[in-house]
Amino acid sequence: MRPGARTDIGPPPRFITSEPRLGFGAWAVGGEGWGAPDDEGPRRAAVERAVERGITFFDTAPSYGHGGSETLLGAAIKPFRERVAIATKVGPLDDPRKSLEASLRRLASDYVDLLQLHEALERWEWQLEQLYELQEKGKALAIGLCNATHLQISRALEIAPVVTYQGPYNLFDRDIEQRALPLCRERGLGFLAYRPLASGLLAGKYTAPPEFAAADHRRGIYWFKGAEFERRRLVIEGLRPIAQRLDMPLARLALAWVLAQPGVSIVLAGARNREQVDQNFAATRRLTPDTLSAIDAVVAEAFRPARPTPQLKELAGSWAARERFIVERLDGATSAETIAAEWTDRGDKPMIAAQVKVFVDQLLEQGLAEV
Ligand SMILES: NC(=O)c1ccc[n+]([C@@H]2O[C@H](COP(=O)([O-])OP(=O)(O)OC[C@H]3O[C@@H](n4cnc5c(N)ncnc54)[C@H](OP(=O)(O)O)[C@@H]3O)[C@@H](O)[C@H]2O)c1
Repeated sequence: MRPGARTDIGPPPRFITSEPRLGFGAWAVGGEGWGAPDDEGPRRAAVERAVERGITFFDTAPSYGHGGSETLLGAAIKPFRERVAIATKVGPLDDPRKSLEASLRRLASDYVDLLQLHEALERWEWQLEQLYELQEKGKALAIGLCNATHLQISRALEIAPVVTYQGPYNLFDRDIEQRALPLCRERGLGFLAYRPLASGLLAGKYTAPPEFAAADHRRGIYWFKGAEFERRRLVIEGLRPIAQRLDMPLARLALAWVLAQPGVSIVLAGARNREQVDQNFAATRRLTPDTLSAIDAVVAEAFRPARPTPQLKELAGSWAARERFIVERLDGATSAETIAAEWTDRGDKPMIAAQVKVFVDQLLEQGLAEV
């Protein structure tokens, strides 16, 4: 245990409330990485509209638009600075002090409410200690982690008074339910859910795999292609009648689903213009247990775990450890999330469900597994 580390978690910072709520994800308004950039006007209008709609938590990062998101946020939020919380990040290869100084200049602020390590890579423990020093200097009111394993989150709590963990969570991408979210609940950490709309997919606007522009990061996301796209499309078709019955746009249904999950503190919904803000941040109705079960049933039907063929078991004997590990657990019942979590428990290089799904899809294509 480092000197000064806390073993308990003190009173939550002012942006974490007992009721889960929506926050504004400011990646897309950074103006890069999301296809043809909108002019600054509509991007700024999105932030201002979110404030008008009562949103008080804004998540950004130095990497979003190469500082563009922080600069835009700083300008748009200046008149309301004391009424809103700004969370930014430090890149996994960056020097925390220099990174935060540059962020504060762009944000035109003396402090951030939350400073998060963007990803826990090689020197993450040292970086976290630096984040804590910055907190002690008053430049960050609280510190948090993103994109870490449950083992790293537990370790982080021995190093510094981390108050939040941020990870991906939407009704398709549910790795977090295995280990990290239960850990956050147990240790009193606020959980910030990112990509709640699966990068826009859950707005229901794609009936075929989209062709994103070269500079759009979604070109590289596996769920916009192949078998995974098709499974997700089927789920979205199954969700439409549920959304219609509740008179809700699909995007809002998807956000309400995340808000209803136990342990979620803030759902970071991305929006690139005023219209999307109006749709996503309109008053959200709490989903009933029956609606949540109906949504989960639609998802489960499309994501049935695969079974191995006898030939696969024989072939896999000579494969690499990770592939063998996956094959040994294919039994027609075990989910990709469970397999990935069990691998990650061993403390080696972590695995996520996406890697299991992509590999199993290859087995299905080759006739070596079936659903
Ligand atoms: N810590 C991390 O590593 C990490 C990683 C990713 C995200 N995040 C945070 O989480 C936030 C949210 O994630 P995200 O922005 O990646 O994904 P998201 O919230 O799942 O999706 C946002 C995108 O969906 C589309 N969209 C949103 N509302 C819509 C609506 N009503 N109708 C139609 N399309 C709509 C927009 O893009 P188009 O209009 O272009 O389709 C928008 O940019 C980010 O902004 C960021 O703050 C953190």
